[in-house]
Amino acid sequence: MIIGLGALRPWTDPEVTSIQRLPMRATFAPTVSARRRSLNGAWKFRLLDHPDQLTDDLIVDADTTAWRTMAVPGNWTMPSAQGRGVDDLPHYTNVQMPFPGPPPTLPRRNPTGIYRRSFTVAKGWIGQQTVLHVGGAESVHAIWVNGAFAGYGTDSRLPSEYDITALIHSGSNDVTIVVMRYSAHSYVEDQDQWWMAGLHREVFLESRPLVYLADVRCDADLEVADHTGRLRLSATVGFVDRPASGYSVRAGLFTASGRRVAKALSGVVPHHFEAPYVFTGHTVDLHWQIPAVNAWSAESPNRYRVTVDVIDAAGVVVDGTEQWIGFRHVEIRDRQLLVNGQPAWIFGVNRHDHHPVRGKALTIDDMRDDLLQMRRHNITAVRTSHYPNDSRFYDLCDELGMYVVDESNIESHAYNVSLCNDPRYRTTWLARGSRMVERDRNHPSIISWSLGNESGYGTNHDALAGWIRKADPSRPLHYEGAVFHDGWVDGGLAASDLVCPMYASIDAIRQYGESGLGSRPLILCEYSHAMGNSNGSLADYWDVITSTPGLQGGFLWEWKDHGITQTMPDGTKRFAYGGQFGDTPNDCNFVADGLVAADLVPHPAMREVAWVYRPVTAELVGHKVKRVRISNRQSFLGVDWLRATWAMLVDGVVASVGVFALPRIAPHSSVDLALPCQLPASAGEVHLTVRFESRRDHEWAPKRHLVAWDQMVLREAPRRAKAGRAKPSGRHDPVHSTDSIARLLTDPVALALFRAPTDNDGFKLMPELAQRLRVGGQALRLWQEAGVDARPADDLVTHHSIRTVIDDTVVEYRHVVDVPESLIDLPRVGVTFALPARFDQLRWFGRGPHENYPDRKSSAMVGIWDGPIDGEPYLVPQEFGLRSDCRWFECLDTRGKQRLRIDVLNPTVLHCSATHYRAMDLYAATTFTDLQPRSELRVHLDVAHRGLGTASCGPDVLAQYRIPAGRFEFAYRLSLVG
Ligand code: GAL
Ligand code: MG
Repeated sequence: MIIGLGALRPWTDPEVTSIQRLPMRATFAPTVSARRRSLNGAWKFRLLDHPDQLTDDLIVDADTTAWRTMAVPGNWTMPSAQGRGVDDLPHYTNVQMPFPGPPPTLPRRNPTGIYRRSFTVAKGWIGQQTVLHVGGAESVHAIWVNGAFAGYGTDSRLPSEYDITALIHSGSNDVTIVVMRYSAHSYVEDQDQWWMAGLHREVFLESRPLVYLADVRCDADLEVADHTGRLRLSATVGFVDRPASGYSVRAGLFTASGRRVAKALSGVVPHHFEAPYVFTGHTVDLHWQIPAVNAWSAESPNRYRVTVDVIDAAGVVVDGTEQWIGFRHVEIRDRQLLVNGQPAWIFGVNRHDHHPVRGKALTIDDMRDDLLQMRRHNITAVRTSHYPNDSRFYDLCDELGMYVVDESNIESHAYNVSLCNDPRYRTTWLARGSRMVERDRNHPSIISWSLGNESGYGTNHDALAGWIRKADPSRPLHYEGAVFHDGWVDGGLAASDLVCPMYASIDAIRQYGESGLGSRPLILCEYSHAMGNSNGSLADYWDVITSTPGLQGGFLWEWKDHGITQTMPDGTKRFAYGGQFGDTPNDCNFVADGLVAADLVPHPAMREVAWVYRPVTAELVGHKVKRVRISNRQSFLGVDWLRATWAMLVDGVVASVGVFALPRIAPHSSVDLALPCQLPASAGEVHLTVRFESRRDHEWAPKRHLVAWDQMVLREAPRRAKAGRAKPSGRHDPVHSTDSIARLLTDPVALALFRAPTDNDGFKLMPELAQRLRVGGQALRLWQEAGVDARPADDLVTHHSIRTVIDDTVVEYRHVVDVPESLIDLPRVGVTFALPARFDQLRWFGRGPHENYPDRKSSAMVGIWDGPIDGEPYLVPQEFGLRSDCRWFECLDTRGKQRLRIDVLNPTVLHCSATHYRAMDLYAATTFTDLQPRSELRVHLDVAHRGLGTASCGPDVLAQYRIPAGRFEFAYRLSLVG
């Protein structure tokens, strides 16, 4: 028996979504800041193994002096909180639940945290109402104030508020919040992320007057034809006692800088029931119609400020607040999503709340840092996968300019097709989605409501969709499950206004677009799974998206790795993934699939993202007379915020540079400009690089930030003689070489067919998962079956090579490799050798400066690049560091001033890399911290290298980036200089 609940155990019952919780409302703070009192900080804390161990004594009377403290907001599961009575770490699972079902079965150990603290109530608060606000508790929470039960709430990603007026007194009071790690509701919070626990968002008290502002709704719309702004403001006034007459609501509308835009409006608060049949409550509706407003868009996030006051009969302001709003119009027409009448590319990412040290308890700076890093890479849309975020996140999106798909906290992935039709879970479906809309509807950044993720498609979805459509007709609905189950061509229309598939192939989306069928635009809710070395064919996706009607972009999976900072016994730190906290069952490093590492350091693919999402492009057009076409892919802005420069490179060396005078280029249009340079008379290949930099400082980057870039080939490299014809002259001495090069190489040149598998070649940590899900794993399995990683490469293929010593410091190699049909889809065909570790710098004429691969190289410009040996760009050891299309490649010993140069003789380019690791060692290791860098520099030269694809979740490498069977010939010269 528990005080106030008796024998009831609401956390076991999916039908109980709340007890005594106040209705949801928009997020707003009272104008008088003293009415709010933060309860963030150190709380007394005790962890039980199970909610059944709760006793009245623990909730109410216990002497907490011996209890430890716990930070609020925070997750008690984070490593920093462990010890002194807390032994409960993060647990990572993807689809599977961390404990056996069926729903609503709970695990035998269900850690339950008791948070306790005291607070003082000022005298002035007595006689008013006092509300306790719990910003977010995973998974469910129950509250006692001064020993009396105050309420219970579910949905770990939305706030809950309770009226505790009757339970408090002036002076010192106590509050206890009990948080259960798992509950019947965990089954609808089965997202692919760490299971955490605790009060991870702010907790505060608020004093509200007896006549108070209960809710503020701002529906701001834009008349697209003439930019008339329409604002309908609905202010609901609450009366704790009998509704009284004489109250009114007064509202003002201002620009962001505080200039009044229109005269204040006011309305009398309806208070009596003279006409009960038509009485709609104490809501005042005010309407503004403002000519020529500055519309809100992600490109120009123009906001306005609304003030709302409740005024009593004597003219005294009794309550009030302010809201940011933006005028904009979202609609779907002719298979297009239009913002303010214009189609907008969805340059999106999926974002989870995650911080490597704070877990789910993000600070506003953490959120801002995420968004600024996104903007620096041309990302302008976010899906809040897979739950509503802290409301301050949407303020930031409104302010910085981001299109947001706001997602309900509903995912029943392990019971994918059952809970969506389960009546026991119907209430929670509705509560979760409707409460999100009620909280977030005032934000202009939100352009669509999502019904959740990976929960099948059932009656519960249509119930929620119906509610949202009535409550907010201004935004389209998004639900992947509806189109997955009922088809892209007008399937699941009740629940989704977008065709929003996940991980669809390029061919599939092209077909949908070209078919002209269906009424909806296709926006991928997830695509290009960024796990490890990934994101192959991003540019191929965007070629099709931008050239096919009906396709408008998508949200990459995903923004950030969910690595958690873990200190090892020897004091070193690493980012931990699933299983590294002893959590079982788990899904390993599937939790590390971000474009940036947990500390926001971009993985190499981020350059490709910034490139495919660039707001302007440059390309070469014309046959006889070549011109440069500059296209503006923005929906509203011109290109005047950018400065364009060009550089002409002859054999990689900058021969001339200049500024491109950009004319006006309207949104979604382009201009063709004359070539800014003359082709040189001298021989050699010629490239033109165009760079677009910002002219002014932005919040996300200072001026001169590189926003967009493109490169065009003005003249190809001259063809070289075919291998086998131009015979190198000199001494053929493959065995007993005593020249300087042979002495330098710590491992001689040998055939190489293997690369350390990327996460997308196969789940090396989860072979069973690959089997079960039938995703990924394919390539790796083929290689393993063929023994590619185990047998010497020369045993697998026919290989002839000729080593020709030109002189003591110059040696030429020619290789002929015949790959049999049985070995199609090899990781690489090339050679490898090793140099002493003192070679620590690279220089090359090829694509760079960042790592690039045959299907991820559009952002990598051809040039002469310099750089140190790559570090470890991925969490789990795997292939990395390739530079494709190298004409030459140099390894430098900067101290000894020696240089090993590799000149490609045939074909014109090879793909090269030089790292401190052997492929086999990378393959064997599960973390970089286990892996000692070898005391050598391992060099690879590949005539063919498999693309990356995204097969860890999505399409594998496209056929054109795979290695076919057949003959491969290549030749190069090694010279030792200095
Ligand atoms: C999707 C899912 C995401 C994530 C991703 C793989 O199926 O919606 O939550 O699991 O796959 O990383
Ligand atoms: Mg899932």
